[in-house]
Amino acid sequence: MNSSKRKPVLAANWKMYKTVAETRDFLKVFLPLVNNLSEREVVIAPPFTALSAAGEIIKESELVSLAAQNMYFEQKGGFTGEISPIMLKEFGVKWVILGHSERRHIFGEENSLIALKVKTALENDLLPILCIGEKLEEREAGLTNEILEKQLSAGFSEVGNQEAGKVAVAYEPVWAIGTGKTATPDQAQDAHIHIRSWLTGHFDSGIAGQIRILYGGSVKPENVNELMALPDVDGALVGGASLKPGSFAQIASCRVG
Ligand code: 13P
Repeated sequence: MNSSKRKPVLAANWKMYKTVAETRDFLKVFLPLVNNLSEREVVIAPPFTALSAAGEIIKESELVSLAAQNMYFEQKGGFTGEISPIMLKEFGVKWVILGHSERRHIFGEENSLIALKVKTALENDLLPILCIGEKLEEREAGLTNEILEKQLSAGFSEVGNQEAGKVAVAYEPVWAIGTGKTATPDQAQDAHIHIRSWLTGHFDSGIAGQIRILYGGSVKPENVNELMALPDVDGALVGGASLKPGSFAQIASCRVG
């Protein structure tokens, strides 16, 4: 059970799935299914091209908010193919996923770039979901905590004490993403405790205690309650199982509190 101070976040990362038409179809079915939920935040991160349509549909919802999957760290300029925080805000985007393992490992994003993105997101009133996580070989070599610390200290390097509470951290072990292999409750809880203790060591305890730590990696309706029951798991970042409205509605309806 997570601390009552921290409102759980159930977030859908749609990655490079769903056209505008598919986004509309999803939300038409999904929103009525979650209408009565409370005591949690539900977040949808569609591709950039569907942000406008999704923003229009969910703007009346108190429960559901919009996230982008990435962002550049400048407001404008000669950065072909990039999207700025100002552009995201036009669509009512509240959150931005930064440092996702697919950005790190497929597109070569380094910790230093992610740090600038986190800083810029906060400067522009966007809430970062900072993703961190170890690869399988790093876990097997006993390096998990070291990797997490490195990613945390880079990701928070430009973040002051007052702003830190606005960041959510998503622990996504790379070996659990899209593989059907979920971290065991012990593995997830160990990593989340380590992340919480790093945060407590770097920020005032009140601030560190506000930071939500989400788990991601093969979360599905069948395992979400077990994960959410762990003391330091404050939410979930869901890929594959967020693509069907019924499945993500079940996840969003998990037991909280
Ligand atoms: P899966 O839920 O498909 O494993 O993806 C997790 C993820 O990468 C969410 O950001």
